Amino acid sequence: MRRIAILGSTGSIGRNALSVVDAHRERLSVVALAAGENADLLAAQIAKYRPAVVSMATGAAADRLRQAASGVRIASGRDGLVEVATAPDADIVLCASSGTEALEAVLAAIEQKKTIALANKEVLVMAGGIVMDAARRHGVPVLPVDSEHNAIHQCLHGRGQHEIRRLILTASGGPFRGRSASELESVTADQALNHPTWRMGRKITIDSATLMNKGLEVIEAHWLFGVAADQIDVVVHPQSVVHSMVELTDGSVIAQLGVTDMRLPIQYAFSYPERWSAALPSLDLVGAGRLDFHTPDTQAFPCLALAYRALQAERSLPVVLNAANEVAVARFLDGRLAFPAIAQVIEQTMAAHKPAEVNTLAAVRAVDAWAREQAQASAREVELKV
Ligand SMILES: NC(=O)c1ccc[n+]([C@@H]2O[C@H](COP(=O)([O-])OP(=O)(O)OC[C@H]3O[C@@H](n4cnc5c(N)ncnc54)[C@H](OP(=O)(O)O)[C@@H]3O)[C@@H](O)[C@H]2O)c1
Repeated sequence: MRRIAILGSTGSIGRNALSVVDAHRERLSVVALAAGENADLLAAQIAKYRPAVVSMATGAAADRLRQAASGVRIASGRDGLVEVATAPDADIVLCASSGTEALEAVLAAIEQKKTIALANKEVLVMAGGIVMDAARRHGVPVLPVDSEHNAIHQCLHGRGQHEIRRLILTASGGPFRGRSASELESVTADQALNHPTWRMGRKITIDSATLMNKGLEVIEAHWLFGVAADQIDVVVHPQSVVHSMVELTDGSVIAQLGVTDMRLPIQYAFSYPERWSAALPSLDLVGAGRLDFHTPDTQAFPCLALAYRALQAERSLPVVLNAANEVAVARFLDGRLAFPAIAQVIEQTMAAHKPAEVNTLAAVRAVDAWAREQAQASAREVELKV
């Protein structure tokens, strides 16, 4: 029996993870859950899975949960996330909360030698060096749930970094694939939220529309697989059938293909190194018809190029990129920022930053706080010019 703690159990990945648990009740159990604000759904999950400890993002949300649930310890805030991630019975911690609040919780879980199943990419973008170093020191596996990285993990199947020539991440291209920069000036949040192939949370869906999601994934791949930025390529693949590929040093390219359903990578992370059966439909290659691959358009979608720039500079620039992106996306979703201004705000914030070493959690959090403030100021300026 593998005992699971889930950070972000009420979200898109969290709910998919619980349906994987439902499909394997003889192998998986839930011992701890954390959510943000959705007390009603967490109460329903408590009634069904009977975890020992749960947490909500804020004290107010935890109070709402106390009205609806009993027989469980209810914590809150960043400390609450740590409590859930270090629940004594948990073997595997699935990090599927949005944003970067779970960074301390992931590190605490690693110290307690819990296997990390990582869906959240922001944590690695922000502090990949610190997280992977801690995982190495404690001998803890960090298993990727993000479909592209999960695909690469499957393709590599234990092969060493020295056998990799390059990683090829596939991108659907999002809802605005093929549009020019000028055509993107007036797109709305509702249009951006209408992703062609994946159903996901709001923030990652906007990141997919700007191609920042792929940029964050390039940085994530760097930390997970230990390869340099110039060994990570991105190709636009609208059908989302090939989830990613690895080119080995002899020129062989190994790809992982499958239906677009996050239950597959989540289950693989839970079952690893075993494979369990899954009630998912088979991939219909004839139905897919053709598989296309294109070079991404970084003129119309500059966020991808900004992420490469941040990774190449390393040090604190990826922290700034991530924080500025979170600020800009939130403002776009609120209707206060135009779509192309997301990249503008990130670029301005990066330009205003003097890169520094970020080897400690405190240094990372300090740069993150600075970048959020700077990005807010930059966004206000950009808004005024609209
Ligand atoms: N969705 C996908 O297919 C997919 C694929 C690859 C990677 N990812 C990554 O996985 C992560 C989650 O994505 P998602 O699509 O599942 O997002 P989502 O649907 O927006 O869910 C986010 C989850 O995080 C919770 N949360 C937010 N702030 C929190 C806090 N301070 N403390 C505890 N929980 C908090 C939310 O709780 P409430 O809803 O209760 O507020 C919700 O459970 C992101 O990092 C994303 O990049 C997602």
